[in-house]
Amino acid sequence: MDDLRGKYLELIAGASEEGALEDLRVQAVGKKGEISLKMRELGKMSPEERQVAGPALNALKDEINAALAAKKAALADAALNERLKTEWLDVTLPTRPMRQGTIHPISQVTEEITAIFAEMGFTVAEGPQIDTDWYNFDALNIPGHHPARAEMDTFYMHRAEGDERAPHVLRTHTSPVQIRHMEKNGAPCRVIAPGRVYRADYDQTHTPMFHQVEGLAIDRDISMANLKWVLEEFFSAFFEIDGIKTRFRASHFPFTEPSAEVDIQCSWEDGQLKIGEGDGWLEVLGSGMVHPKVLQAAGVNPDEWQGFAFGMGIDRISMLKYGIPDLRAFFDSDLRWLRHYGFASLDVPTLHGGLSR
Ligand code: DAH
Repeated sequence: MDDLRGKYLELIAGASEEGALEDLRVQAVGKKGEISLKMRELGKMSPEERQVAGPALNALKDEINAALAAKKAALADAALNERLKTEWLDVTLPTRPMRQGTIHPISQVTEEITAIFAEMGFTVAEGPQIDTDWYNFDALNIPGHHPARAEMDTFYMHRAEGDERAPHVLRTHTSPVQIRHMEKNGAPCRVIAPGRVYRADYDQTHTPMFHQVEGLAIDRDISMANLKWVLEEFFSAFFEIDGIKTRFRASHFPFTEPSAEVDIQCSWEDGQLKIGEGDGWLEVLGSGMVHPKVLQAAGVNPDEWQGFAFGMGIDRISMLKYGIPDLRAFFDSDLRWLRHYGFASLDVPTLHGGLSR
């Protein structure tokens, strides 16, 4: 019996899979197993012998069965551990293997602009993209007969015949936000208003929807000098080039007096545009001192307050900063373009952390 015990315990210990264990069970304690056959021999024994051998055989059978069960459990545990090892997943890893979306350059540049002006004390104001023609034109000193209305290629909202409400337009510029902001908050104020604007125009350098950022600073003694300083600070920070020069050219806008178009310094060499050097100039925005009639329309007393305003194309300066050649591609939603020119979602522009990649 000791031989049997030794043999089977050793075989069970050495078994490496469940199938082998089952074979051993049949061999040892199955109907025709070695131990079962020994039990059959009990009948031929004398009662004294049987009294000793019977319980011993039963105990051996129990021991083998217990060893089989324990080994089976151990094999199952080992198999589970093996599986856990290969299927292990570190949920704290960043999602790098995933296809990530990107932040559109316009969104990124809007964040950059906001960060720079915030540093100079400007907050962000917003207005509706569908506005009345009063906010978009009249309040900005562009009366009905003014040629600027025709020049703007305005999208007018449809009105049912007999509808007497004020005509609504898709705003043609962000300037109406000046009026809305001053109406609500009065003076002094210092805001930028980035957003979408619309004009019925489409070619290589024009899309029917594009982006502007409006600037407005009203106080008791704000001058063109403050405007020039703010813009030079902005362009130096935005293009990350110290001391970018600006050139102010006399111009005309109905909502400013005097008015100026502003160019930034640049050079053209071998078809390469470089900002902030050389003796070329690139037009980037319109600006001026807010017209007294505009202040009046917004409920601000022009005898007490004055200030500057400017309007700049966001798409244009994005193209200049990031070397994007075609305006229309901004709005094509081409995934390859977005992956190439887009920004990582965690790449949040700040002045201390850097404004570009
Ligand atoms: N609203 C003008 C445009 O869309 C841009 C502009 C010019 C805005 C002069 C201003 C400004 O605030 O002072 O063309």
